[in-house]
Amino acid sequence: MPQAEQNDVLIVGAGLAGLTVALRLAEANRKVLLVAKRAITEGCSLYAQGGIAAAVGESDSFASHIADTLEAGAGLCRPEAVEHIVENGPNGVEWLINQGVQFSRTESQNNSYHLGREGGHSHRRVLHAEDATGREVEQTLARLAQAHPHIRVLENHLAIDLITSSKLDPASHDRCLGAYIMNLEKGVVESYAARCVVLACGGASKAYLYTSNPDTSTGDGMAMAWRAGCRIANMEFIQFHPTCLYHPQAKSFLISEALRGEGGRLQLPDGSRFMRQHDKRGELAPRDIVARAIDYEMKKHGVDSVFLDISHKSAEFIHQHFPNIFSACQNFGYDLCREPIPIVPAAHYTCGGITTDLDGRTDLPRLYAVGECACTGMHGANRLASNSLLECLVIGMSTADNIEKNIEHWQCGSVTLPAWDESRVTDPDEQIVVAHNWDELRRSMWSYVGIVRTTKRLQRARNRINLLAEEIRDFYSNFKIDNDLIELRNLVLVAELIVESALARKESRGLHYTLDYPEKYSTHAIDTILVPSNFVGRQNDPTWSGG
Ligand code: SIN
Repeated sequence: MPQAEQNDVLIVGAGLAGLTVALRLAEANRKVLLVAKRAITEGCSLYAQGGIAAAVGESDSFASHIADTLEAGAGLCRPEAVEHIVENGPNGVEWLINQGVQFSRTESQNNSYHLGREGGHSHRRVLHAEDATGREVEQTLARLAQAHPHIRVLENHLAIDLITSSKLDPASHDRCLGAYIMNLEKGVVESYAARCVVLACGGASKAYLYTSNPDTSTGDGMAMAWRAGCRIANMEFIQFHPTCLYHPQAKSFLISEALRGEGGRLQLPDGSRFMRQHDKRGELAPRDIVARAIDYEMKKHGVDSVFLDISHKSAEFIHQHFPNIFSACQNFGYDLCREPIPIVPAAHYTCGGITTDLDGRTDLPRLYAVGECACTGMHGANRLASNSLLECLVIGMSTADNIEKNIEHWQCGSVTLPAWDESRVTDPDEQIVVAHNWDELRRSMWSYVGIVRTTKRLQRARNRINLLAEEIRDFYSNFKIDNDLIELRNLVLVAELIVESALARKESRGLHYTLDYPEKYSTHAIDTILVPSNFVGRQNDPTWSGG
């Protein structure tokens, strides 16, 4: 049996969360293996336009940022998580600046950082790099990671499953030992051992037909953690970004909320505005309200899109603040400086995920989860814009601190991980089945588990997903796996978790709106926590108690 490669820390996912953990541990001389399923920068963080919310403005305060986050979260935020993340935000931002991240500055006001405004925020508090913050942050940190002698980056490697001690010895106290990872270029599966594993693999918006996310958002972290026995919380809260460009070739290109923050107006095709009829905050109401209002108006007027107009601002202002959005729109034939652009909502962010404490610890000892795949309780029933990069950063930092505090207690030396067994599978005979199942899953989720839900629609989705799950199980057991099958297997599982969570919530709250229980908050606030059949709970491990 070949010996698995050994590392101090195996990090799956190279967005802001994964890179933060990697760089901070590498600075502490830990040997880090950082695994990205595409090119290192090609995760969701790259596409974040708006920025990072942090209470750094003169008139702003932690109390105000906390209050706005709690209000958007509709009673389901975990207050300790919100306080921890908000109060450590400025430190996190300072760390990013020290790594070389360049945030936009104002020309007036002593060249201080320009703070953007987004829906649900009572103050200007969004640090940004023009309209491509994710790109600036991701590229800066990725360059550092690639050059760091203690970090080995594996690109085009897709994690398939975690390896846990109970798989080797069912009587053992369960803990995470490593992961099976497919080298996508060679098509071979290798096992990697580590003293601990960090899942930082993003959300699951690719479960929906229309999404602002890149192809990588396939719920891999959530699915792997669930199969390894971790609980998953609040999956019904899928955030639909209200404004993605509507164009057959645009693949739901995101139009940042910052555009509305700077005065962008939502309009019907006849030019009339409608947001004030839905919420007194108008275009700057939280996203759940804006997305539902757009959905309502589109259905009421039978139109394929509504419009976003910022042409009342000067061309100079638009070029300065939104250069990338301007040029993307121009490529699709729209001039942001002169005309309203067509927009529709699209799946954008998974608020729920693997339950963790504020140090990123999951239910399984030595397995951490950070960023969109995790659920710390920061976002509750609805995430406030630009709070997610903040969470990646702050929880990434506390995860690295927790690992550093405990890692000397953990060894991976003596365990030999089993090699991947392909002896009983053959090449797939009908690859088309996988392609069709992808399509069917995403259409069913869009039609039945979208912005407005009903119990009947959710049950319809459940029936279809059950059939897909059965077919995928059969495929997975009998044929050689590849990227599409691995991702689809994860996405079908996560879709099941979304539907089960949505069916369990008998009320409308935050992002979960159902016509069968339209009254808000009809029950007191409780999380939807799904427990896998192999859940064993936190073990009697002194490095893993609490949380
Ligand atoms: C946006 O720029 O509108 C996206 C930012 C976010 O989702 O936090």
